[in-house]
Amino acid sequence: MAESAETSLFPPPEEFSQQARVKSLAEYEQLYAEAERDPEGFWGRLARQQLHWFEPFQEVLRWNEPYAEWFVGGKTNVSYNCVDQHLATWRRNKAAIIWEGEPGDTRTLTYQQLHDQVCRFANGLKSLGVDSGDVVSIYMPMVPELAIAMLACARIGAVHSVIFGGFSSEAIADRNQDASAKVVITADAGWRRGQQLPLKASVDDALEKSPTVKHCVVLRRCGNEVTMREGRDHWWHDLVEQASEDCPARPQDSEDPLFILYTSGSTGKPKGIQHTTAGYNLFATQTFQWVFDHRDEDVYWCTADCGWITGHSYIVYGPLTAGATTLMYEGAPNWPDEGRFWDIVDKHKVNIFYTAPTAIRAFIKWGDEHVEKRDLSSLRMLGSVGEPINPAAWLWYHDKIGKGGCPIVDTWWQTETGGIMMSPLPGATATKPGSCTRPLPGVMPRIVDEEHNQVAAGEQGMLVITQPWPGMLRGIWGDPERYQKQYWSTVPNCYLAGDNAMCDEDGYYWIFGRLDDVLNVSGHRLSTTEIESALVSHPTVAEAAAVGRPDDLKGEAVAVFVTLSSGDPGEELAGVLRKHVRAQIGAHATPDEIRFSAALPKTRSGKIMRRLLRDIAAGKEEIAQDTSTLEDYSVLAKLRGDEE
Ligand code: PRX
Repeated sequence: MAESAETSLFPPPEEFSQQARVKSLAEYEQLYAEAERDPEGFWGRLARQQLHWFEPFQEVLRWNEPYAEWFVGGKTNVSYNCVDQHLATWRRNKAAIIWEGEPGDTRTLTYQQLHDQVCRFANGLKSLGVDSGDVVSIYMPMVPELAIAMLACARIGAVHSVIFGGFSSEAIADRNQDASAKVVITADAGWRRGQQLPLKASVDDALEKSPTVKHCVVLRRCGNEVTMREGRDHWWHDLVEQASEDCPARPQDSEDPLFILYTSGSTGKPKGIQHTTAGYNLFATQTFQWVFDHRDEDVYWCTADCGWITGHSYIVYGPLTAGATTLMYEGAPNWPDEGRFWDIVDKHKVNIFYTAPTAIRAFIKWGDEHVEKRDLSSLRMLGSVGEPINPAAWLWYHDKIGKGGCPIVDTWWQTETGGIMMSPLPGATATKPGSCTRPLPGVMPRIVDEEHNQVAAGEQGMLVITQPWPGMLRGIWGDPERYQKQYWSTVPNCYLAGDNAMCDEDGYYWIFGRLDDVLNVSGHRLSTTEIESALVSHPTVAEAAAVGRPDDLKGEAVAVFVTLSSGDPGEELAGVLRKHVRAQIGAHATPDEIRFSAALPKTRSGKIMRRLLRDIAAGKEEIAQDTSTLEDYSVLAKLRGDEE
């Protein structure tokens, strides 16, 4: 079935195309050609259309590889673009955010209401001494105040660093420290599968190791008891109570930093990916409109968490700048039952739905009955992000959720790219299940081999981007060398995406996963080295190797091989080590499998042979790798013997 699905072509439904922003392949190709011929004219025109300029820019792009400056000399404000620009229009009373909490409580904020709350909270932050350029960490559940906090920072020029609510206190402390955060915004707790996730308690621990943080703002969400330290901790409601609704957006330079978002790389230390103001704002907005074919009457729902880039670009910044109604949901997809997402679609009459393949695979496993009980007829298009979508999941999504009539956009992009780089345009591009199809206008990809030559159609290679684009990362916070080395030194004059990919005869791109030591677990990036560092920080562990193992649900699962310096191998210690990794990084990094081994397979020069371990973890009978450099064959035999 997979083979036939991969070669099938699904043209956009005619009715959809007729009403779409980009109505045909010819229109897409025209846009693409325009951007290719004159990228600066193209992006300059769109920037003038989409964003409000307090002062116009003088130059569209200043490219001093690997440093790009877009819309040089211009002044704008992302919070203004997301909120204020709609107030003078009929959208003033349009729903900006429709929110549903896990217990079923809902709130709707119009653009006017959002404006008032953002202003009050921005004034609250100012009263704590937060100023332009200060870093504010945000560790919150998926509640409207999370978006409000992001927009309030943007309004006054503070740089936010959103930390996903699943990260541990150690991870929060590392991020606070790396970014020299001055303030942390959190909540007493958030709801997840009927339980309260004690966010403030994690922050309390983190703040013991965060000397730069002077203040902590706490939203009351669950009403659980928390400790509030006098002088340092402030309730959100107290802070906004006296605050004025008047807080004009501060004109920011196009290249002022907007946010930092930490993501895993191939070393043990997460990187603070840095995005700036105008280019990011334009790219998120423009790609949102192209890819989701957004119309004013749509209810749009992206199921990501704002702790990841997808939430930044496609829950908050892109949709709000476009004047969309964006839906936010706080909790789990299987609470109180496995039909929760479809209840939300049914209840709020969602038109555009954007989720991850790992979620789709979970829905398949949970059974069609949860879908069939709900009315999904409001849906008009579907999206996928975060990892390659296997054709079987694609077809299920198409048939069961889209009822055969909704175009699916498989969107390829990264934290670093700021927005979608490759995707079908739903009214223009015929889709092939498993392919993210073609690049968006202004995006110039290429597949190259080890010698940096472009490979022939149908051959795999490294995916690179040959031209700068407005949403590209501007650096790694505090580490320009790593930025240069990681992204710009492997293939001359090209951005290295780190993915293995192929472009077929039709010019359609297929992404096969990472080339580096980065795992993709349920659409989340995890570094094997980070997991290994967490493990070896435990006193019983001498050495550890983490590898990915194919997993039906998560895409990849984390398998680790551990050599002990003390303690007894067995389930008890495995449990202790799992907990330890959780505490060091977060629940999403918990190893799925721990194997103890007296030694790890190494080359004669002492390098752990990870590819070999990957084969062993995957349970492959035949080891396809070259083992001629293996130092001690008995290690391999033992590891394989341990498999039962
Ligand atoms: O390997 C690619 C995979 O996710 C990586 C980026 O992860 P992150 O920065 O966490 O951003 C995820 C959300 C944008 C990529 O290098 N990836 C993302 N989308 C796709 C994908 N792989 C295949 N198909 C996709 N649509």
